[in-house]
Amino acid sequence: MNNAIKIKDNIYWIGVNDRRTHIFENYWPLPKGVAYNSYVIADEKVVVIDTVERSRMDDYLNSLQAVLQGRKVDYLIINHMEPDHTGAIKNLLCHYPDLTVVGNCKTFPMLQNYYGVDSNLLEVKEGDSLNIGKRTLNFYMVPMLHWPETMVTYLPGENIVFSGDVFGAFGTLDGGIFDDQVDLDYLEEEISRYYSNIVGKYGMPAQTALKKLNTLTFNTICATHGPIWRSHVCDIIAKYEKWSKYETEEGVVIAFSSMYGHTEQMADTIGRFLAEQGVKKIRIHDTSKTHPSYIINDIFRYKGVILGSCAYNGGIFPTMETLLCELENMGIKNHLLAYFGNKTWGGGAIPRLKAFAEKMKWEVVAEPNEALGAMKSSDIEQCKAIAQAMAEKIKKS
Ligand code: FEO
Repeated sequence: MNNAIKIKDNIYWIGVNDRRTHIFENYWPLPKGVAYNSYVIADEKVVVIDTVERSRMDDYLNSLQAVLQGRKVDYLIINHMEPDHTGAIKNLLCHYPDLTVVGNCKTFPMLQNYYGVDSNLLEVKEGDSLNIGKRTLNFYMVPMLHWPETMVTYLPGENIVFSGDVFGAFGTLDGGIFDDQVDLDYLEEEISRYYSNIVGKYGMPAQTALKKLNTLTFNTICATHGPIWRSHVCDIIAKYEKWSKYETEEGVVIAFSSMYGHTEQMADTIGRFLAEQGVKKIRIHDTSKTHPSYIINDIFRYKGVILGSCAYNGGIFPTMETLLCELENMGIKNHLLAYFGNKTWGGGAIPRLKAFAEKMKWEVVAEPNEALGAMKSSDIEQCKAIAQAMAEKIKKS
């Protein structure tokens, strides 16, 4: 099926939707699927910018060939090497063996290691240009967004940035491909979840990239996932500014791990006291049910974090450990923290939560409480103290 859609004269989207894959990078849930966006510019030379994940080759090649009407591909620009965008390379090279692959010095070792491709390479550096006829493309490095080799391709005149993963989103493109053709409310969580889950570790590189992009004149952003931004360019850039600086809203995320309900009772009790203190945005997650993807996304959004876990074999509960490891790995900054635990005999959750607090350097707003089984009146008082301290702090921050 030919899915190609014209963006501007001789510039086309040739992406594919993936509604079958359940988890992205074999980890992050895809309840609304994902789109892999690829683009083609048919000038005097034909340029393809990024490809797609390998499972959708037939549709991808049909779209490309429909656009090209028998012409050959001259250049393939690899803005980003991750296989959701390079999975089609070997197949593309079978169809167009003479094409030149454009990348930078960090791209090509990865290309060789993944696909054994080491010839017909054109290496570009920061600010380099490539003339393709009436148009000239410029290249700018945006390392760590999302891998070290990542770059963006800029098309002046038509004012388009082909941005790789930057400004991408989970969610398929259901009919429309532009931001003014899709339901952005429906995609809102998928846009923020893409940032927090995939790019969120790289706040500083994102800031650097935003400063660099700020020097370019553009009105269209063609990312490798999600809608093409042309009517809400300022909005998505503002979101990236906020997220990359770890700016948060007033609200509290409570994540708990509970085997027999006692730790959950503590979480609910804290949530109730927070509400009595006037906190409206309270999100309570059971780590055994809710994937870290969604908890991390809420933590990116809200200032307060309260974590509670039962003990498990002398340590912390496994699903809480997974969440803590993810948060530590991402190095999320600028949050207020409180934590609590529950034990039947020796405990084990509190030392791990304390170590987490020290590693993250988040401000701990209250003394931890570790209850013994069902809550007693003293535990209720301590849950109240945690909620009051958190509510007071987030209102001041
Ligand atoms: Fe969409 Fe980093 O790959």
